[in-house]
Amino acid sequence: MSSINIGAHFPGGIERPMEPPRLMRQPFVLLIAILLFTFIPIGTALVRAQNPPALAPADAPYKNAKLPVENRVADLLSRMTLEEKVTMLSGSGWMESAPNARLGIPAIKMADGPMGVRSWAGSSAVTNAANNPVKVLTTSFPAGIAMAASWDTDLVQREGKAIGQEVKALGRDMILGPTVNINRVPLWGRNFEGYGEDPYLSSQLGVAYIRGVQSENVIPSVKHFAVNNEEFERHRIDVKIDERTLHEIYLPAFRAAVQQGDVWNVMSAYNKVNGVHCAESEYLLNDVLKKEFGFKGFVISDWGSTYSTAPTVNAGMDLEMPGGPPMQAWLARPATQAAGNSDGWLVPEKVLADVRAGKISETSIDDNVGRILRVIFLSGLFEFPHTALDVVDTPAQQALARTAAMEGIVLLKNTGALLPLDPAKVKSIAVIGPNAAVARTGGGGSSLVRPKYAVTPLEGIQKRAGSGIRVTSAIGVGMDGEDPAKDTAEERLKALREAADAASKADAAVVVVGRYFKNEGEGFDVKTMDLPAGQDELIAAVEKANPQTIVVLNTGNPVTMTKWIESTPALVDMWYGGQEGGSALASILFGDTSPSGKLPVSMPKRLEDSPAAKNYPGQDLVVHYAEGIYVGYRYYDTKNVEPQFPFGFGLSYTTFEYSTLKVKPGKVAGGQPVEVSLQVRNTGKRAGAEVVELYVHDGHSKIDRPTRELKGFGRVELKPGETKTVQMKLDRAAFSYWSPESKTWVAEPGTFEIQVGASSRDIRLRAPVELVR
Ligand code: BGC
Repeated sequence: MSSINIGAHFPGGIERPMEPPRLMRQPFVLLIAILLFTFIPIGTALVRAQNPPALAPADAPYKNAKLPVENRVADLLSRMTLEEKVTMLSGSGWMESAPNARLGIPAIKMADGPMGVRSWAGSSAVTNAANNPVKVLTTSFPAGIAMAASWDTDLVQREGKAIGQEVKALGRDMILGPTVNINRVPLWGRNFEGYGEDPYLSSQLGVAYIRGVQSENVIPSVKHFAVNNEEFERHRIDVKIDERTLHEIYLPAFRAAVQQGDVWNVMSAYNKVNGVHCAESEYLLNDVLKKEFGFKGFVISDWGSTYSTAPTVNAGMDLEMPGGPPMQAWLARPATQAAGNSDGWLVPEKVLADVRAGKISETSIDDNVGRILRVIFLSGLFEFPHTALDVVDTPAQQALARTAAMEGIVLLKNTGALLPLDPAKVKSIAVIGPNAAVARTGGGGSSLVRPKYAVTPLEGIQKRAGSGIRVTSAIGVGMDGEDPAKDTAEERLKALREAADAASKADAAVVVVGRYFKNEGEGFDVKTMDLPAGQDELIAAVEKANPQTIVVLNTGNPVTMTKWIESTPALVDMWYGGQEGGSALASILFGDTSPSGKLPVSMPKRLEDSPAAKNYPGQDLVVHYAEGIYVGYRYYDTKNVEPQFPFGFGLSYTTFEYSTLKVKPGKVAGGQPVEVSLQVRNTGKRAGAEVVELYVHDGHSKIDRPTRELKGFGRVELKPGETKTVQMKLDRAAFSYWSPESKTWVAEPGTFEIQVGASSRDIRLRAPVELVR
């Protein structure tokens, strides 16, 4: 039985084995729980609707699935009283929208994500607690940052689909993910949830996730709109950002979600942007999202992020969450309010009062409600409510979680080809570290999924090693803050000595270091880029005891490595790998699969090198995004600051050769697409996959532009000696910058350079392309 890092955590820091999947073995308990959570909201809404008119006839147009969605929405709206409409603007429970029994409008039943389906019983405090009243055990997929490291859109789409299937299997309708906020500073507590620092990569992966979820008729929620890049005072912080940076860095993933993914829902963020809370930002919601991007779905608020009635409704924020009695109970807690949460502004009585006072028009309400209804029809929820109780965490879903964990692992250093481990030479392995014998599946907060099982690195290695290799283990140092009883100088010294001893007696040592859900997660930022206390010293001690040491990072954010990296022979980043993280790690260490992950985020040498470090977390609740568009490699590469490991970097057990770059046509006019192709050959002796990155360099711009920007990528699997052609397409947007003057994308005529490489700092092929008017 594995021990995992959630739900098994008890005060006093004792890790207990995960409970068996009791719930799944007693379906009636689950059924009762689901019925309870389904019908409480319905009951609440029935009480709210006053003197409802008669039922709608069976042949009412809105009930006819053959009619166009817009006609159905118009018909249904015309049958609703104003009271019924405004009732739909706020939730009826913690995770449910308000249903309407008279007209047969179902509640939208939500669940948190994005790394799998999380219990909908309440806030993180409730759901992540050991005594969580409704245990929901589902597949825990790798964190978003690990998924991003795969650069595999097909994989992310399959993940989205699998999560969609689990949502339905549990009788829910909506998953609160994907998270597409950009990694601006390596301390954001939620960086692990998102897809890294690049807007193009985040866009493509977000769209893939959305497509997967929506293919199951489940509603995704792309979040958090917008510019939500730190947890520090997340409800009060005011992000001061210029329009170009907003459009080029922080909005593209949302734009792609709307324009390429046709996403059904967007969640507004907690923070303020340029002085206005996101949930009441006319500019962000109405002007940008709805008008500029053409969003046709509905917007929900983040939980407790509304601060007004009329301004929120008028700004185009369609559904306030949470609602009903759970919201009132939560809001009444002093801690909730102290954190800055605010809610209950869109309850019927407040909205109706503002309608009567002429502050909100009925047309505006119709737009809000119409958008919710539109998605209920589009997703098929109206005809086919998700009530079926089906199996979750199927063998196929487990296998996908494992493939995903494997593809996301990044090999950062491999001196003297220490990896893969050679069973002919390595007869004993010491597996060491605070993250070795505990499965740290994800960071903390609303994304933390409770799996039925989770494989620790130690278990994965033991299983793969079999009986021919002796595997020993030692903690080396306790995870900071996890077990205060053992946090004495004496105990520390003892643990460190035991680890060094184990390492010295083994042929190779694997040190698994990193963080866990209590020092990396939602609601707080990571305090420092350094590894938690004692882990740098542990690495040094183990390396001294055994030169064949492999360091494994098990964390979401980059960490400072300067104290040990020079002498570390091998370094692997497994991020938070979900429930199969340990087995995936073992497969990579033993070379069953060649690593193919690449960094979706630059790893700076030290925090001070990060372009945003000087402007984080802000002063007097204001944070200036003064680095502008120079986020991540856009900064390191343009300003020649050397990172520890660059964006897009990752090693393999084999080697690849890039050749024959073709860019067609060489001269491009109007909206003509540019076809880029090249050949990639596996020149080594093992099968492997290579991620090819395409950057555009604009050397002739009138305005300041980064030296290169990612605009395409492709992943190919190659047998030894095999060659494949990688094709990528660029549209005009790939050459454009946002002009605040003309409020549009501008592609300046002239010659651009297409750069194709294995990382942002390993450009292998270059070719010009000329843009003409
Ligand atoms: C988080 C969201 C989450 C919501 C519901 C909020 O605190 O920011 O990402 O979906 O809670 O749990």
